[in-house]
Amino acid sequence: MTTVASLSLVPHLLIKPSFRCLSRKGVGRYGGIKVYAVLRDDSADYLKDNHHWEALFHVDDPGPRVPIEKGQYLEAKQALDVVRFDIQYCDWRARQDLLTIMVLHNKVVEVLNPLARDFKSVGTLRKDLDGLQEELAKAHNQLYLSESRVSSALDKLAQMETVVNERLLSDGSAFANTADCASLDPSTSLDTTTSTSSTVRVGAKKPKRRSLNISGPVKPYSANLKNFWYPVAFSGDLKDDTMVPIDCFEEQWVIFRGKDKRPGCVQNTCAHRACPLDLGSVNEGRITCPYHGWEYSTDGKCEKMPSTKMLNVRIRALPCFEQEGMVWIWPGDDTPTPTIPSLLPLSGFTIHAEIVMELPVEHGLLLDNLLDLAHAPFTHTSTFAKGWSVPSFVKFLTPTSGLQGYWDPYPIDMEFRPPCMVLSTIGISKPGKLEGKSTQQCATHLHQLHVCLPSSTNKTRLLYRMSLDFAPWMKHMPFMHLLWSHFAEKVLNEDLRLVLGQQDRMNNGANVWNWPVSYDKLGIRYRLWRDAVERGVDRLPFSNEIESGS
Ligand code: FES
Ligand SMILES: [Fe+2]
Repeated sequence: MTTVASLSLVPHLLIKPSFRCLSRKGVGRYGGIKVYAVLRDDSADYLKDNHHWEALFHVDDPGPRVPIEKGQYLEAKQALDVVRFDIQYCDWRARQDLLTIMVLHNKVVEVLNPLARDFKSVGTLRKDLDGLQEELAKAHNQLYLSESRVSSALDKLAQMETVVNERLLSDGSAFANTADCASLDPSTSLDTTTSTSSTVRVGAKKPKRRSLNISGPVKPYSANLKNFWYPVAFSGDLKDDTMVPIDCFEEQWVIFRGKDKRPGCVQNTCAHRACPLDLGSVNEGRITCPYHGWEYSTDGKCEKMPSTKMLNVRIRALPCFEQEGMVWIWPGDDTPTPTIPSLLPLSGFTIHAEIVMELPVEHGLLLDNLLDLAHAPFTHTSTFAKGWSVPSFVKFLTPTSGLQGYWDPYPIDMEFRPPCMVLSTIGISKPGKLEGKSTQQCATHLHQLHVCLPSSTNKTRLLYRMSLDFAPWMKHMPFMHLLWSHFAEKVLNEDLRLVLGQQDRMNNGANVWNWPVSYDKLGIRYRLWRDAVERGVDRLPFSNEIESGS
């Protein structure tokens, strides 16, 4: 008997035309499921009418936990789970096949063992070997099949995620009516173009190609984007008598340590006659203006005015905090949140380099670049991706959904951490070899943190921290820091000329997100998140994941 279930990519009744993925149980260890996509606004009736269905893909073995029930609509996440369970099963199956091969291999070794051979005739040995060879051939075939199924299941997941992403980029009305998604204002943020190349070809209407509209000079930053904690400097760069000038959201600030050694952040403009304070000096926890010697504490109060009567004068100061080797500021008007997210890698890693660079590009363009790995074999041909082949398909998979996942076929995990951070863990198996293994399978790892502080609409302060979970002694080798800096700059320069070119085109009206494809998922999600923040929606997209990730 056929069981029918439906997988809805968006909550139904909210979208016209509605978009449904329907599934039917078929064959397989746990029933097998065919997933269908239907573009209709009467899909409830359509479900009853199970004709004209065209499978989007087949999930051969969805596993026992798949939440399929007769005639029930499922959320997008559950739909993705169907495919994820299939991948888990295929992976398990492949491991079993590998185990079988290993057992058979041991048997062959046993049969060929010279000590054991004495007790068997040549005829028996040959018979045993023939039998084992046959079994081995079967097991190899089975493994080959399992590997193909894993690969195909990964493709399905990527395809499914592409469909979900397309829905995320979908028409503004859908988002406006959906409680857990941000809405994108079609007039300002979305372009819709009829496409002939979409992956979904079911239903009467042609699917539309969606693109974000990120074009023209960067608009002034929304106040909402300022209501986050921003890392602005490494603690190691802030000695007792030094100061770090920074630009943040078009304003000039200076950071220095007060009498209590805690960092403070005040405006980098003297109250007297607007002289930049960072041209002065820090003495006993106060910053001294180089022009007439006025001195300010970390809360912005002027505590000394030489050669004149003391007045009650203050300059602006921002909430400033130090955590895990970084100095953070809160540039917004809202009350700062009580917690600051951790940016450290897992235990076992040692920090080897902390580098700061001021770059002449808008921070969003830099984040777009850092959240994209598909460009590596084309752009980084002189550095880390030298000799990399170009994979037939690059995917970013998000098993836990949201802003965090891993790249296939590279052993690289990546996360966008709001408001402007990228964390990545790179598995290192052999030098220069990155394909074909998962991050966990690699014995050694490199962890990277990129912070892209929005200095201005065409400037970013980049904080880069690199950690390794091997060779901690390297940290103490002379000039190692210079070597890491040199390498980081070289990699960045490979990107920078391209991003500068994009910025130039963007300022002249080109859309830098004109035609997103499946491997652009993380970058797109960052843009969706940022758009939602700037428009001040109540619940941000991927907010569950953000909470749990911080
Ligand atoms: S401008 Fe700073 S003390 Fe005069
Ligand atoms: Fe790059």
